[in-house]
Amino acid sequence: MQFEVFTLLPEIFPPYLESSILKRASERGLINVRVHNIRDYTHDKHHTTDDTPYGGGGGMVMKPEPVFEAIETVLGLSSLTTENTESTEKIKTASVDSVPSVVNSSSIPIILLTPQGRVFDQRIAQELSQHPRIVLLCGRYEGIDERIREHLVTDEISIGDYVLTGGELPALILIDAIARLLPEVLGDPTGAQDDSHAMGLLEYPHYTRPPEFRGWKAPDILLSGDHAKIEKWRREQSLLRTFNKRPDMLEKAELTKKDLKFLEGIKVEKLES
Ligand code: ADE
Repeated sequence: MQFEVFTLLPEIFPPYLESSILKRASERGLINVRVHNIRDYTHDKHHTTDDTPYGGGGGMVMKPEPVFEAIETVLGLSSLTTENTESTEKIKTASVDSVPSVVNSSSIPIILLTPQGRVFDQRIAQELSQHPRIVLLCGRYEGIDERIREHLVTDEISIGDYVLTGGELPALILIDAIARLLPEVLGDPTGAQDDSHAMGLLEYPHYTRPPEFRGWKAPDILLSGDHAKIEKWRREQSLLRTFNKRPDMLEKAELTKKDLKFLEGIKVEKLES
């Protein structure tokens, strides 16, 4: 999968991308992250990428010309103007208001990282992992010229309800969450299946050697070798954790009759204690 990142701070990316699992995924050709400096697409002496906002007020705004030129050049799109807005529609695969469930795989999502976007979660990571190529545009300064959002960007994503100094960390978070869903990126092929959130539940607790540490024992059942019992215990621990820490998730999770019975038991226990 190919990630095209557009940023004013390209130096932020290599330290993270050249470590651990993402490094291995790149070396094995499973992902390819290209980081493009928007400043390389300016034509004035000072390589200006921002300007003061029309109408006054504080802060600076990212100018449209270098952002359009950078993305159009890298994607090989012809310049979008008011005369060919039809082509704007053609490259739009998704908007914040309507996200198609079946995405045309030949069209490339152009995602702006912004606190105003739809909030990133595992479902969106899965949806984006189906694309062979995505564009991540990192905002900086106080904001971006609205024409970038209106006529270039096809999707807007936030990583949570707080404001960062720019979209670079959010872009890395998307790359990480998406890359680990791709076939063969994780050493264990079932690695992503039991993740917290993958099943709509939080993941069960993990233990490793030693069996006893400072008097605290790992649960006997995990050392029993009885795989059916271990499966059942893990499922129940997932349900218990989700019930205690994120009860909101239970409303959307896919639950079996057995799960519901177990949860009823927890609720009764809680009432009695
Ligand atoms: N840029 C600044 N804050 C952000 C956030 N919360 N999510 C995505 N991009 C951002």
